[in-house]
Amino acid sequence: MDSSEKAGDKVIEWVSSMAEILKPDSVHWCNGSKSEYHSLCSVMLDSGTIMKLNEEKRPNSFLARSDPMDVARVEDRTFICSKNKEDAGPTNNWVDPEEMAEKLGVLFDGSMRGRKMYVIPFSMGPLGSDISHIGIQLTDSPYVAASMAIMTRVGSDILLELAEKEFVPCVHSVGAPLENGEQDVPWPCNDIKYIVHYPEDRSIWSFGSGYGGNALLGKKCFSLRIASVMARDEGWLAEHMLILGIENPEGEKIYVAAAFPSACGKTNLAMLVPPEGFDGWKITTVGDDIAWIKPGADGRLYAINPEAGYFGVVPGTSYKSNPTAMHMMERDTIFTNVALTDDGDVWWEGMGVDPPDHLIDWKGNDWTPKSPDAAAHPNARFTCSVQQCPSVDPEWDSPEGVPISAFIFGGRLSHTFPLVFQSFDWKHGVYMAATMGSEGTAAAVNQAAIRRDPMAMLPFCGYNMADYWAHWLSIENEVQSLPGIYRVNWFRRDKEGNFIWPGFGENMRILKWIFDRTKNKVKANKSPFGYMPKHEDINWKGLSFGRSEFASIMDINKKEGLDEVEAQKELFDRFNTRAPKELELQREALRERLSGGSDIWDSTS
Ligand code: GTP
Ligand code: SPV
Ligand code: MN
Repeated sequence: MDSSEKAGDKVIEWVSSMAEILKPDSVHWCNGSKSEYHSLCSVMLDSGTIMKLNEEKRPNSFLARSDPMDVARVEDRTFICSKNKEDAGPTNNWVDPEEMAEKLGVLFDGSMRGRKMYVIPFSMGPLGSDISHIGIQLTDSPYVAASMAIMTRVGSDILLELAEKEFVPCVHSVGAPLENGEQDVPWPCNDIKYIVHYPEDRSIWSFGSGYGGNALLGKKCFSLRIASVMARDEGWLAEHMLILGIENPEGEKIYVAAAFPSACGKTNLAMLVPPEGFDGWKITTVGDDIAWIKPGADGRLYAINPEAGYFGVVPGTSYKSNPTAMHMMERDTIFTNVALTDDGDVWWEGMGVDPPDHLIDWKGNDWTPKSPDAAAHPNARFTCSVQQCPSVDPEWDSPEGVPISAFIFGGRLSHTFPLVFQSFDWKHGVYMAATMGSEGTAAAVNQAAIRRDPMAMLPFCGYNMADYWAHWLSIENEVQSLPGIYRVNWFRRDKEGNFIWPGFGENMRILKWIFDRTKNKVKANKSPFGYMPKHEDINWKGLSFGRSEFASIMDINKKEGLDEVEAQKELFDRFNTRAPKELELQREALRERLSGGSDIWDSTS
């Protein structure tokens, strides 16, 4: 059935006015059904956008190879077009909305010529949840339409909700019109790219890219940049966070949400398999990338994962580093930009399988172990449904969401920052999260440049970051049971440049300490950075990690700490007077603690 039958006048009018501008050859209203997914796949098989993988080895799975110039989000082509520049703030690219509308008017005029336009009604979050929101994406890319069907809840019934709800209009074009029967290419896109957000109109326009966060507009564009603005106005939070459940052998359970910058381990942590020494403990997955969090009637914060699928980094994923993700990818998966084996299966660097003698690399060229370049692109990704996740939480689809007991923030930091510490209170925690940084690459010890990435939201906050901090601070007054706030750092290195902490499944030991803190089961040591675990309060069963190693990863160096305090000033200075005073007070308090006497280093709380 054509789902346009369920669309009200508002939607029909919008779609037809857009079609007049975009000028597609035809229009298809998506209903999110299995058969629709299959026909999208056959369209892509015919055009060479995807190829089918070996049915025995990877049932119902495909490989897509993108244009080599279209392989990741393009932050420098991402714009926040608020009326006032100051409302976008110094960390966003801003262009005057009228000036941008003129540019886009030219680019989108006839941009879908020769192509089919897909109309995709989608819900971010369970239907009927008061945390959820609705969008309608127009796209001329069947790859995007198929991916949206996995990543979001697509369906014609969503249109029925629009009688009472607003929708976020999301216009996407790969920007490659086919003039006069011109032959298509497997991955159409345009050298010119614009990923544009109008926060006041709550609308999104994306031109020129078919890849990931540039094109699957429910993800970063809607669920973070536009949703962060909605959340500010309506008193909730839209965050770059995974959500996981921790259950002990007695069946006590908490949920935590954790923010890490892109490619810093959210998917890994969300699907953690407890190591030896944790019999009966369970980690369950609600989401791996985005959390929408709202104060509930009982005074707690409740979170949903607005997405319905994973778009996870593939390279580095193995049965050792993330067995759950590996099981998930065994079937019903779209791989993008991994290598193809001679028997029609996939391969990537860090898969834990020796490279075969011959592969077709992500660019479609012959590859052998002697080839100088990687066979899979470092940002190669898999797309599959949340329901395929062996550790999926029973409440993942619950309209109420799950109650959050702790927030965790972590960057990639080779020095200065200990493995884990807890904030003294909410304000201190917001300061810890706001000043978070991360190193872009595996840079040399102590030489790595830190990119400040407040709350892991630097590329995703749709408004002035200073106002976003103020919004986080204001949550203290909206919620009775405030979650604890923790910083973690899996990435500290020793003098030889090796990671000190084994990480991955072993991160369970830190999650358990956080669980115990939440349940008031353990006391902690006070340090200038915050509360720290005592060695004996971490379960070390099954891991040889001695007191001295622990000391080396928990150590706070006074000079490094004071250097950090000074470096943070640069961040706050970028916002002039707009940054909340509280954060500067927190910075000064940290300086005091670091310079102060020894009493703070070993008291207990
Ligand atoms: P986006 O999907 O881009 O938002 O990223 P993500 O945060 O989900 O990143 P992902 O889980 O794909 O990050 C993978 C990277 O983190 C790989 O380089 C892993 O090796 C690394 N990683 C994950 N967990 C750990 C850990 O505990 N220790 C160390 N050293 N590396 C880790
Ligand atoms: C990220 O970059 O944080 C991602 C991938 O999760 S993308 O969806 O492309 O933004
Ligand atoms: Mn992400």
